[in-house]
Amino acid sequence: MESQWLLPTAVVLALSVYFLKPQQKKSFKSNLTTPNDSKIIVCGGGQKTRFPNGSPGVCKLIAFLEYNKIPYEYKTTTNFKESPNEKIPFVHYKGQIISDSHFIIRKLVQDGLAKDPNAGLNESEIAISEMVRTSFESILYWGIVKHRWINNWEHTKEEYFGKMPAILKWFLPDRIILPHVLANLRAVGTTRYEEGQYDILIKEFICNASVILGSKKYFMGDQITMLDYTAFSNLGNIYHLSKLNGELKAELEKYDNLVDYVKRLTPLFKPNKI
Ligand SMILES: *[C@@H]1O[C@H](CO)[C@@H](O)[C@H](O)[C@H]1NC(C)=O
Ligand SMILES: *[C@@H]1O[C@H](CO)[C@@H](O)[C@H](O)[C@H]1NC(C)=O
Ligand SMILES: *[C@@H]1O[C@H](CO)[C@@H](O)[C@H](O)[C@H]1NC(C)=O
Ligand SMILES: *[C@@H]1O[C@H](CO)[C@@H](O)[C@H](O)[C@H]1NC(C)=O
Repeated sequence: MESQWLLPTAVVLALSVYFLKPQQKKSFKSNLTTPNDSKIIVCGGGQKTRFPNGSPGVCKLIAFLEYNKIPYEYKTTTNFKESPNEKIPFVHYKGQIISDSHFIIRKLVQDGLAKDPNAGLNESEIAISEMVRTSFESILYWGIVKHRWINNWEHTKEEYFGKMPAILKWFLPDRIILPHVLANLRAVGTTRYEEGQYDILIKEFICNASVILGSKKYFMGDQITMLDYTAFSNLGNIYHLSKLNGELKAELEKYDNLVDYVKRLTPLFKPNKI
């Protein structure tokens, strides 16, 4: 699938830039429909490596599906408008289109396709681990985006758009897509810090993640829980897509337990079908 990744990604990004202009933003569309069967179709961006996915959100969902041996089809999409929240991942499932890895997983658990990943935890463990999980998704995630699109832009541009026809490459990455991503980074606050401050937050985050994991097998002990799907999707992205996250990978590699964790979990989540 290698060569099929770059152009679709570019197209997805271009379309999302076109369709996601803030002033055109619509409210969440909850009543989209799709054929009513129980096949799960996971929609995400193009895929280049055997690592589950370069988008942490899609990666988390695939990790969950693979680990729980739930059959699914993967579809590379260029139409983010099809997603109720206009983001990836989203799934077609039983007559509905559902957005957001968290709510997709919740629905699949409700339908009995997998055990609740947090079932083995007590109330306070669930509370703490869910707080840690959401901080991975709101702090480290944006650190990854910032590293790809600001700190490491020249590499990222080559990786995402290197094979794009020259005429598109001339204006699309720098003039259309990058400004859109930068606007998002500013809207969520990542780039409103003083120079270097967010990088400090990320270093401390990774260090604290290493402390929390300690010598445990998984973040909450001997069993994989919801937190692991998220932690793996972010840490694994840093480790496996190192061309896009060079400095972050160097930071991660300071902590043997985190590197070991990513290496141990990768084969458990590896997609067979993508
Ligand atoms: C979706 O919901 C909106 C608001 O409730 C309604 O106006 C619209 O007709 C619905 N569309 C479909 C296809 O059911
Ligand atoms: C899909 O089909 C099932 C069984 O026929 C039905 O119970 C369910 O309400 C349908 N769902 C939708 C969204 O139409
Ligand atoms: C929940 O588990 C933790 C150990 O992980 C324990 O310290 C705590 O006492 C437990 N809480 C309850 C209410 O059982
Ligand atoms: C954990 O985070 C706090 C606050 O950001 C920071 O002061 C501390 O140094 C971090 N811990 C480690 C071990 O880096």
